[in-house]
Amino acid sequence: MEDATESPAIHPAIAPLSYLLGTWRGRGEGGFPTINSFSYVEQLHFSHSGKPFIAYTQKTWKLNSGEPMHAESGFWRPKPDGTIEVVISQSTGLVEVQKGTYSAEEKVIKLQSELVGNASKVREITRVFKLVDEELFYEVQMATNLTSLQPHLKASLQRI
Ligand code: HEM
Repeated sequence: MEDATESPAIHPAIAPLSYLLGTWRGRGEGGFPTINSFSYVEQLHFSHSGKPFIAYTQKTWKLNSGEPMHAESGFWRPKPDGTIEVVISQSTGLVEVQKGTYSAEEKVIKLQSELVGNASKVREITRVFKLVDEELFYEVQMATNLTSLQPHLKASLQRI
């Protein structure tokens, strides 16, 4: 039997997104028409086990005090045809099924919620990730019961 502690080969299905693997840290800005804007520190971790999915964890802290904020985790499932499915569970209890596309050449991933569950206000979520010059940028937009789709989060992260 193969030694489970050895690092497994990357599954071909996740190879186009292998640039994500590892730990990223950076800063973000949040806002929405109905709230005060805020700044945060964020760490993302993408890992794999040799299976055709990438495991994802995220943690955030208040920029000034270091107090923990939002956290989430999930699984990214890219398909050979350039589509991708991502499931995310948030520390607030909200769950997302995201569907979208990726471009291995342009290093862009675009996600649109197919399902937002256990949410009191949120109706829709979009997420766009882009790698530019080794820096990972993302933007999250959301629609709520009172507000149409608008930016909530924007961040840039470096590999650590
Ligand atoms: C507020 C959803 C990620 C920090 C909110 C609100 C919603 C929401 C629905 C209330 C908006 C309103 O009252 O009109 C989400 C969703 C997220 C997400 C769906 C991910 C897709 C985050 C992250 C952070 C964060 C990562 C921190 C880094 C905040 C803060 C508020 C807020 C500070 C304002 C709270 C208040 O003033 O009461 N978010 N959020 N959110 N969110 Fe998020």
